[in-house]
Amino acid sequence: MRKKIVVGNWKMNLTLQEGITLAESILSSLTGIDDNRQVVIAPPFTHLTAIGSLTKGAAHVHLGAQNCNDNASGAYTGEISAAMVKSTGAEYVIIGHSERREYYKEDDALLARKTSQALDNNLKVIFCCGEPLEVREAETQNDYVEKQIKAGLYHLDGAHLRNIVLAYEPIWAIGTGRTATSAQAQEMHAHIRAVIASQYGKDAANDITILYGGSCKPSNADELFACPDVDGGLIGGASLKAEEFLGIIAAITRAQKQ
Ligand code: PGA
Repeated sequence: MRKKIVVGNWKMNLTLQEGITLAESILSSLTGIDDNRQVVIAPPFTHLTAIGSLTKGAAHVHLGAQNCNDNASGAYTGEISAAMVKSTGAEYVIIGHSERREYYKEDDALLARKTSQALDNNLKVIFCCGEPLEVREAETQNDYVEKQIKAGLYHLDGAHLRNIVLAYEPIWAIGTGRTATSAQAQEMHAHIRAVIASQYGKDAANDITILYGGSCKPSNADELFACPDVDGGLIGGASLKAEEFLGIIAAITRAQKQ
């Protein structure tokens, strides 16, 4: 049975004190997370240790970073290595978010190296993919996302794939209030699962968690999470308010086990 996961990606928001307050209010109201579900909180690097000391005591709640460098260590001023992330207690790292692809020009080859660094340091990777609006309008989104997955992940063997979570985030839905319909999400998630199956086999494809991201909120989470191939969400804006994030977590606890 594959895991259902809700990830809160705080992006570059909240001071350390604000982050601690938010994490405390999420954790104090969290209920109903069973062994087959997880919550991941991904604050900025500067907050990892402090938030990690709060998540450590909470069952099924994990800590994640939003990025790591593609080198093991060295003269890369201002950068953070996968080993450093791991040493804070984090278990996950988000790689390939569209904001990093676009604003920091992170290309497929770099993301493949970052993924390997993260896995070499025993982090689980939340690997993001998703098409811009013009690709969706041209109806070539399936090919676009397939190329991102092949370029970012196909160098991995099947054992490494077990430490990958995929996140499909159509760029036109991120922070825009415009969510993909559940039909659009399901269609792409099924395609992504088929792309994984073609390289790693049906069992691996069936086991991999595929999250949806892009304006997911309590009011649409139930419908999205009811799709057979949508295994949870990568949440930006709605993860910054305890009540909204808890509402999305409640939706994943209601989603059918499969
Ligand atoms: P959003 O962001 O929920 O604010 O649309 C999602 C993401 O970028 O991970």
